[in-house]
Order: sequence, then C-alpha cells, then structure tokens
Amino acid sequence: MKLQRRGFLSGTLAVTGTALGLRGRALAANAPAASPAPAARAGDLSSWKAVRDQFPLTRERINLALMLLTSHPRPVRDAIDRHRRGFDDDPVTYFHENVERSERALRESAAAYLGTHADEVAITGNTTTGLALLYGGLPLARGQEIVTSTHDHYVTYESLRLRSVHTGAPYRKVQLYAAPETATEDEIVSNLVKGVGPRTRAVAVTWVHSSTGVKLPIRRMADAIADLNKKRAESDRVLLCVDGVHGFGVESEAMADLGCDFFVAGCHKWIFGPRGTGLVWGRADAWKGHTGLIPTFDWGAFELWMKGQPPDSLPPGPRTTPGGFQSFEHRWALPEAFAFHQQLGRARVTARIHELSTRCKDGLAAIPSVKLRTPRSEALSAGLVCFEVAGKEPKAVVAYLATRKIVASTTPYAQSFARFSPSILNTPEEVDRAVAEVRAFAS
Ligand SMILES: Cc1ncc(COP(=O)(O)O)c(C=O)c1O
Repeated sequence: MKLQRRGFLSGTLAVTGTALGLRGRALAANAPAASPAPAARAGDLSSWKAVRDQFPLTRERINLALMLLTSHPRPVRDAIDRHRRGFDDDPVTYFHENVERSERALRESAAAYLGTHADEVAITGNTTTGLALLYGGLPLARGQEIVTSTHDHYVTYESLRLRSVHTGAPYRKVQLYAAPETATEDEIVSNLVKGVGPRTRAVAVTWVHSSTGVKLPIRRMADAIADLNKKRAESDRVLLCVDGVHGFGVESEAMADLGCDFFVAGCHKWIFGPRGTGLVWGRADAWKGHTGLIPTFDWGAFELWMKGQPPDSLPPGPRTTPGGFQSFEHRWALPEAFAFHQQLGRARVTARIHELSTRCKDGLAAIPSVKLRTPRSEALSAGLVCFEVAGKEPKAVVAYLATRKIVASTTPYAQSFARFSPSILNTPEEVDRAVAEVRAFAS
C-alpha cells in the first residue's frame, strides 16, 4: 500500500511511500542529495598510542571509569558530524533519503559484530531500554516466573519489578556465589541449576557484574539450562537472558559461543559507539511470542496498521526497535563504532583489557590494607576491578583519586566498592599510577 502525500511540508515536497515511516523516499525538485558516506577506516591503529590519539579524551586526567560512558573515536565523531550537518541542513529530506539504508546498515553492522542475523537485532537507546523491552514483553503463562540473581544491576531488578506491577508476573532472586573474590564456575553453575524451578520460564543475569567485576560463565550456564530444557515442553523452556554490557566490546565471544537466548547491551561504553545507542539480540526461536512495548517506526508496521493489523508478522528486530524520531545523527553513526572495533581486532582488544586489569589487580592485591573483591581469574573477570580500602568509604577513595587527577567510580549498589575499569585507552603506566595513589591513600 502506498501513501501519497503531495504538498507535504509547505508544498515543497511530494513524499511517496511515507510521511514518517522507514521506507520513504523524498522527491523534491531541489532537495539536497546529502547521504551518509561509507564507513571510514580510522587510519593507523597499529600501536595503542595511535588508538589513543583517535579520542579527544582529556590528557589532564587518567580515566579509569569509561565503562560508564565513552568518548567518541574519530570515525564515530566524523559520522555524527556528517549526519548532523545533513539534518541541520534539511531534516526531513535527509531523513527520507537515508532512513531505509541507514537503519538497515545499523542492524547489519550490529549483527555482523554479534555473529547473528540482522532480523534478530533490535536497536535501542541504551542497555536500560533494552532490558525493559525484553523483560516487559517476554511471553509468560500464568504462574510462570523469572529467576534473577542477587548480583544484578538496578535496571534488571526494576525492569522485572515493573513487569510484575503491570502483569503480576513473579520473579525471585538466587545467590550465585558466596563471595565474589573466591567465586568458582562450579559454584555459580550449581547454584543456578538449584535456583531454577518447575515454573521458571526465564533466567535474567548479567554477564559481568558491575557490583563486583565477576564475569559469569555464560556458556556453562547455557549448557546447564539446555540440559534442563531437554525435559521441558517448548512453552516451558527456560530462556537465558543476559545483560551483556560490560562484556560487549571486552570479550571476543560471538552469540553462538555464549549460547544465551537473549543478549542486551548498550553500545556507548566498551564498544565506543555514539552515546545513546544499544541493542537487544534474541535467537530467532526465542523471540517467538515476545510482545513489543513501544511502537516501532518500521514502515512495514505502518502498512499493516493501515490494513488494521498488528505488526506481529514483521521480523522481531525491526518489530521491537522503538520508534519515534530519534537522535539519528548518533544512532546512524553506530556502524562506524563496530567497524572501528573490528579494525582494532577483537582478540587484541580482549588481550589488552585483560593485561591491564590483571596488572591493576596484582598491584592492588599487594597493598596490605586493600581487599580486592574481583576474582583474579581471567575466566571469571573482565575489565572491572572492584576493591575496598580498610577504614575508608569507597566514595572517599574515589574523591581522593579525583584530587590526584584519576577518574574512578564507586559501584552503585547497597554494598558499594571502589572500582577501576582499565580500557584500551589506558597504559600500563597509568594503571601503575592509579595503584600507587591507592597505596598512598591507604597508608
Ligand atoms: C550491569 C549494567 N547494566 C546496565 C547499565 C545501564 O547501562 P545503559 O546506560 O546502557 O542503560 C549499567 C550501568 O552502567 C550496568 O552497570
């Protein structure tokens, strides 16, 4: 079905296909032919110094808290600027000329990075929106529950609580490990298996805990759940749902390696994507029965709506992607971040982050009054390093470090720790400086 709108927008444009939708084409006598340039390569990334030079991040401070929000590397910045100029010049024409290709490129670049199919990926504004969409729309029959853990982030709990308020769907928490620093894979997997009950339909966990730095063995957890599922009917199958934000852009696993059913992440932390971007991936069969919460702007949904039908027949990714006009200059620059990461080399990124985190942990562990709360094992940790200093509040540690021009963070949990998150923008010398400042404060 075609929507004909002649004279839309002050009579200067005749828009065929859509006024708002994502398959529009603007036909205008003198419309600017602005379009996004193809992904630019970042240039030389062969040394970590060259990589650091791609970021305008201040050199005045050592930043060990970029796990919260990234600075943009050059290709992402350039793409944002290019799109912004196009939108500022002629927002509606630029939108119509670029929306279909850019939205497709967005999902395809995310899917290539995840190792999945573009139709399985929904684009969101951050992890929080992704988790709310995922847990808000999971198909739960009466009496079916969601099991989460005691180690998750506020946004997982709040998404589950809100789901429960709206639909009465029950959820409960299980403890996966007694103490983070001594956690083992066996302990985590056996507590998970014990925690899953006959009415459990989904397990909601976080890959790398921003509370402790523990990285869950998602593959082993997925295998344990697959064993449980062998005895279950399709509609009772336990779905493994993962907030993966602090593993995404740190660890190298693709979705097939992880083995989970759903994966949610923000792209504005370790991926170096535009601030205000994120995604939800679901295995094609796991998406079955999932209902949306926010209307999509995929043009197919408009077409169905005009025939009086819901968008259920659309692929799950486009169907679940929240609609409304967006900050497109940011969103459409996301493929550049995936390209940047691929150009860096994923295994190289993983190795560097682990090298710096291990160095950081070794240094902190050698300070007598410091208690490291993150496991030393690389299998059970990623790029987050959580610690306590005897007799000092975590916020006092972070405030002291700020006076020494070191940016750290406290964990926003009932039991709070001080936290460093070394990234590829840091050097071993910076890590050593930060550890030395902790030693000075602790003594
Ligand atoms: C584990 C975890 N999940 C989700 C979030 C929220 O991320 P976003 O800003 O992408 O919504 C955070 C915050 O950094 C987090 O630590």
